Amino acid sequence: MRRNQTISPKTAPTFRPLPISLTKSSTLLCLAFTLLLGTSGCTDLKRLAYEGFDRDEWQQPEQVIKALKIEPGDQVADLGSGSGYFTFRLADAVGPNGKVYAVDIDAEMNAALAEQVQEKGYQNIEVVLAQPHDPGLPDNSIDLIFSTNTYHHLEQRVAYLANLKQDLQPNGRIAIIDFNGEGWFQHLFGHYTSSESIQRELQETGYTLETKLDFLPKQVFLIFVRN
Ligand SMILES: C[S@@+](CC[C@H](N)C(=O)[O-])C[C@H]1O[C@@H](n2cnc3c(N)ncnc32)[C@H](O)[C@@H]1O
Repeated sequence: MRRNQTISPKTAPTFRPLPISLTKSSTLLCLAFTLLLGTSGCTDLKRLAYEGFDRDEWQQPEQVIKALKIEPGDQVADLGSGSGYFTFRLADAVGPNGKVYAVDIDAEMNAALAEQVQEKGYQNIEVVLAQPHDPGLPDNSIDLIFSTNTYHHLEQRVAYLANLKQDLQPNGRIAIIDFNGEGWFQHLFGHYTSSESIQRELQETGYTLETKLDFLPKQVFLIFVRN
């Protein structure tokens, strides 16, 4: 409605009170959200958005790590590392002689992750501030690029994936996990990529499908090897 617009009785909207149960639960939700905003920083909210309360149940991180077949000493990139949900698990898998590059374009999340890395005393994690079109990884050095719930964020994916090849060692692999679009939230906001799109784009840019895993209820999980 424009300012100063008068409302005639004919056009005046009628306000019906919300049912009491709805107003109560909305108020509680608002209160909880305000409390959360008041007591936590932006990075905490992002962590909550990425990890939720029950992620371990549907994410099955131990099984994911096992399926990646990481060798001690491997160089792994966690592309779109966010709050580091997988970063520390990957660092445990590569061991003290390996290395994990935690790559993200979000400087705030990177700073929060770097703090955790220091607090937990991990020597084998390097946090990398990437550019949207460039992960900032060393050339010909990575054994495995691993990316969860990030693929749908990548812009100009075909060009991006072609560039990624130069960071991989010969026979290097890339593992993509993304939402499959069956959850209403991911579907509504486009936070997903179909298995077919991922396969088409990776194959187009010179990767061969190595393994297709189907134990994750909400996500596609595909592993490719560099041609
Ligand atoms: C939904 S979060 C997922 C975080 C983490 N992988 C996880 O599973 O919890 C997506 C992350 O991708 C990052 N991101 C988006 N575009 C990116 C890009 N081009 N390069 C690197 N990271 C990117 C975002 O900043 C965000 O932290």
